[in-house]
Amino acid sequence: MTGMDRPRRLRRTPALRRLVAETTLQPRQLVLPMFVADGLDEPRAIGSMPGVVQHTLDSLRKAAADAVTAGVGGIMLFGVPRPEDKDAVGSVASDPEGILNRGLRALAGEVGDATVVMADTCLDEFTDHGHCGVLAADGGVDNDASVDRYVQMALAQAEAGADLLGASGMMDGQVGAIRRGLDAVGRTDTGILAYSAKYASAFYGPFREAVGSSLVGDRRTYQQDPANRRESVRELELDLAEGADIVMVKPALSYLDILRDVADRSSVPVAAYQISGEYAMITAAAERGWIDRRGAVVESLLGIRRAGADIVLTYWATEAAHWLA
Ligand code: PBG
Repeated sequence: MTGMDRPRRLRRTPALRRLVAETTLQPRQLVLPMFVADGLDEPRAIGSMPGVVQHTLDSLRKAAADAVTAGVGGIMLFGVPRPEDKDAVGSVASDPEGILNRGLRALAGEVGDATVVMADTCLDEFTDHGHCGVLAADGGVDNDASVDRYVQMALAQAEAGADLLGASGMMDGQVGAIRRGLDAVGRTDTGILAYSAKYASAFYGPFREAVGSSLVGDRRTYQQDPANRRESVRELELDLAEGADIVMVKPALSYLDILRDVADRSSVPVAAYQISGEYAMITAAAERGWIDRRGAVVESLLGIRRAGADIVLTYWATEAAHWLA
């Protein structure tokens, strides 16, 4: 057996394995998505995402402080308005007193510069039809009118204290329009985290419960077809040309090839979003004792990092950060 290559030599002890580990997982690389809901007296559990809640402003501040203590890199905030406050154009989304903007002010006030405050810049939580934009006369989603609304949202979110705006609506030209809108009022320091490759995924199911979505139907006229790979490169190039500061791939686990494509080509940092359905699957299997929860969570996060994500959005951010500390 002389001359035989023996890769196991480097796997023999924990110290050897640690020495040669290629991929790191650190708290600063994790971003916690959070939900703040209007009209709650106390946090409300989300049935399909055990352990995740819709927050009140008070519980949001407390959970954000915990995330900061754990060392997470950022917090991405989603707003859940009262059902009766939704309308066709999602007016509450750009209202400074709307729940998302109030939440952002509370969050920014709580965490200061200790972590990065991110806002979801999309209309779907706020429209009565549940789409990520406004509708045209024919019932389809009107791209350019939707982008105008995103710009109004972006200005309110920047004013409320968001460091980065998560442009997640998948309308054409959204990143450039938001960038121009911010620059025009002197908000050159507010950045854009562009959801560059975002697929029409069945794994968003639990999120729709989390935000009380009103959507009937699907988002296939604006989110990407899971069958496609090449168009993610096109979306990436457009978002870079339009001024994206960070680009994102979403979902993560079913799209690791896309993540690698984007990471190989991007000139800006790359994020990936481990979405609600990914959270729910691991959580459900672990609840049944079918898989080891912590092992599965860490392995999934490592896989996403190994595929090329600098930053991972995950509902386990705070907990995982504690494990890694
Ligand atoms: C829509 C949006 C979605 C998610 C965040 N923002 C998807 C959708 O409803 O189509 C999903 C996040 C998750 O599933 O965790 N702007």
